[in-house]
Amino acid sequence: MNSNIKKIAVFTSGGDSPGMNAAIRSVVRTCAYLKIDCVGIYRGFQGMIEGDFKPMDARSVNNIINKGGTVLKSARCEDFRTPEGRKKAHEQLLAEKIDALVVIGGDGSFTGAMIFNKEFDFPVIGIPGTIDNDIFGTTFTLGFDTALNTVVEAIDKIRDTASSHNRLFFVEVMGRDVGHIALNAGVGAGAEVILIPEENLGLERLLDSLKRSKKSGKSSSIVIVAEGDKSGKNVFELKEYVEEHLPIYDVRVSVLGHMQRGGSPSCYDRVLASRMGVKAVEALLDGKSNLMVGIADNTITLTPIEQAIKGHTKIDKELIRVSEIMST
Ligand code: F6P
Repeated sequence: MNSNIKKIAVFTSGGDSPGMNAAIRSVVRTCAYLKIDCVGIYRGFQGMIEGDFKPMDARSVNNIINKGGTVLKSARCEDFRTPEGRKKAHEQLLAEKIDALVVIGGDGSFTGAMIFNKEFDFPVIGIPGTIDNDIFGTTFTLGFDTALNTVVEAIDKIRDTASSHNRLFFVEVMGRDVGHIALNAGVGAGAEVILIPEENLGLERLLDSLKRSKKSGKSSSIVIVAEGDKSGKNVFELKEYVEEHLPIYDVRVSVLGHMQRGGSPSCYDRVLASRMGVKAVEALLDGKSNLMVGIADNTITLTPIEQAIKGHTKIDKELIRVSEIMST
C-alpha cells in the first residue's frame, strides 16, 4: 500500500448513469474502511475548477445505493479543456490536500483525467459509468444493465398497444455511436428488426424483413433503431419511408430518450459498482494510476485509460445472428 495517499477525491462526470451513486458509496466506504480521508467533488471537472468539495464519510452515503442519477451531480465542462482550467483545478486539489482522484464517467471524462494525469503527474483511476457500454476494457459499464431493463420494460408496453392496433413501431434508443443497447434490448424485447451503426442493414433489406414479417402472419412489429444508426434516415424519416413503400403498415414512432438514463440501478449494476469502487481505491493505494477498473469473465480488471479511450468495443456478432433467427 502507498502510504503517500491520505486523501482521495471522487467525482462523476459526463452523462449520468444508474449505478454512479453505488460507485460513489463504494469509494467512500472503502476509504473509511482503510482510514483514508475522502472528498466528493460536485459537478465533475467544473466543481474541481471551482473548488466545490465536500468531505464524505461512511454515513454520508447512507441510502444512495438504490438511487438513480448522481448525488455529486454531473457536468460536461468546457473550461477543463483549456490548460488554464486544468491549472486552476490542480491548485484547488493541492489547496484541499487531495492526493488522488477517482473519476466515474465515460470516455470524455477519461480523456480529461488522462491529460490531467500527464500534465501534473496526479494519480487517477477511472470507473466506467455510461449506459452506452462503449468503453474498451470492460464487458459492462455501470448503468448498461439498468438501461437495458428500462428499455425492455418500455418496449413491452409499446408492444401491448402495437399489438392491439396491428401497428408497426419504430423505437429509437440511446447508445451514441454504438448499438449495444439496441441489440441487447432488441433481443430481450423480441424486436422484429434491429438497426445498429455496426451493421448497416440497408433500406431495401428493412423493407424485405417487414414484408416477410407480414407474410409470416405477424400483425404488429417493433423495429429498434439505435440513435447512431447509419441508414441515413432518422426514425421519423424511416416511418415516412416505410409508409410510402409498404402502405399496408400503420406506423408510429417512439423516441425513448433520457428516461433510459434514469431509475434505480439493477442489482447487477449495484454489485458491479461496489466491486469497482473497492478496486479503484485499492489500486490507488497500491501506487497505481492512469488505469480504468473494468470487468471481464466476472473478474475485476485494470486497463490503461489510454487503451480504454482509444480501443473499440466489438458488437456481439453471435447476438446479431440470434436476433435474426428469433425474428423468423
Ligand atoms: O453517453 C450517454 C448518452 O445518454 C448517450 O446515449 C446519448 O447520445 C447522450 O448521452 C445524450 O447526451 P445529453 O445528456 O447531453 O443529451
